[in-house]
Amino acid sequence: MFEDVPRLEQLGPVAGRSVLVRADLNVPLRRDASSAWVVADDFRIGKALPTLVELQAGGAAVTVASHLGRPKGRPDDALRMEPVRRLLAPLVPGVVVLENLRFDPGEEAGDPAFGARLVAGHDLFVNDAFGACHRAHASIVYPPSVLPSACGLQLAAEIEALGRIIDHPARPFTVVAGGLKVADKLATLRALAGSADRMVIGGAMALTFLAATGRQVGDSPVEATELEPCRAFLAAGIPVTLPTDLIAARGSGDGEGWADVECFSGDVPPGWRVVDIGPASRRRFAERIEGSGVVLWNGPMGMFEEPAFAEGTRVVAQAVAGCGGFTVVGGGDTVGAVRSFGLCDAYGHVSTGGGAMLELVQHGDLPGISALRTAGARQGSPGVRA
Ligand code: 3PG
Repeated sequence: MFEDVPRLEQLGPVAGRSVLVRADLNVPLRRDASSAWVVADDFRIGKALPTLVELQAGGAAVTVASHLGRPKGRPDDALRMEPVRRLLAPLVPGVVVLENLRFDPGEEAGDPAFGARLVAGHDLFVNDAFGACHRAHASIVYPPSVLPSACGLQLAAEIEALGRIIDHPARPFTVVAGGLKVADKLATLRALAGSADRMVIGGAMALTFLAATGRQVGDSPVEATELEPCRAFLAAGIPVTLPTDLIAARGSGDGEGWADVECFSGDVPPGWRVVDIGPASRRRFAERIEGSGVVLWNGPMGMFEEPAFAEGTRVVAQAVAGCGGFTVVGGGDTVGAVRSFGLCDAYGHVSTGGGAMLELVQHGDLPGISALRTAGARQGSPGVRA
């Protein structure tokens, strides 16, 4: 369904051309032993590489631009591109990595003057930043309005995989949702309710759904403004499976460890915080996922970062991997979880987008994709030339 988005090969020969690539190199950083900032997780960098390598192999002079974090239009030493540049240098020698785009307020404002400065000196534009395509920022929407443009290999893989979900998904189509922020995800769930056959909802967001049904969830955070919308969603008729039993912990959890951990099949009493779904819920979730034609999964089932509370997320990760259908996994935490389980290669597609993935399945399009489509229409069919 995204056939009209120009692909990399449609740019024609790139030898001797100067190509600006917008990638999503927004990766977590950490300080090493000498206090220098280093890349803490290179998943997105690995996904950005094939496009850079292919363009260089074709003889292009490549410049790559990305945002990093949310510096709010001002330079911030903790969010410089230098750690990313150091990591990329031996892998794609000669590729120029620009400084964090969001150090300039023009980026998030979508300022054409900033966009014009960015494209100056370049012949062609490639957008490979799926994770940022839901932002109408200058580096996403301006370059395709003036340069011959195409999507990169990662963005092409994303729209092909997500296109299979948006457009006539194989049946049954199961949506697995977890993680935080019902407020952000409910619109996506509502949009999916029209095409999904069933939904499995776990993680922190399930607690707001459970609270909406009158269940006590102890001291776990509940999104009070979402109780009524959750109630309405559950009443709308789509089959939703929520956890029945919940693992909850009591104590500080701040390095001292949790004093007690228990499984509750009914209300969770005050003083306890839910940290995972219980064994009966894990089995039930796995049964619902088994035999799916398509699964879309976003959001962990519990605090998987703590090994003792990773079991619900692990069981769901294994069930999705083994369901036999086409599977798409996305969102920073979910991808972190499946990588920590060594299951990254077990899915049809692992998305580099969090918000972008949810917005694409919700709206069927994104500003960055639509900007490329417009460029494609201007360029005409394959074999574009500047
Ligand atoms: C992401 O991490 O989802 C993308 O890089 C977009 O980042 P943003 O949410 O800060 O726009």
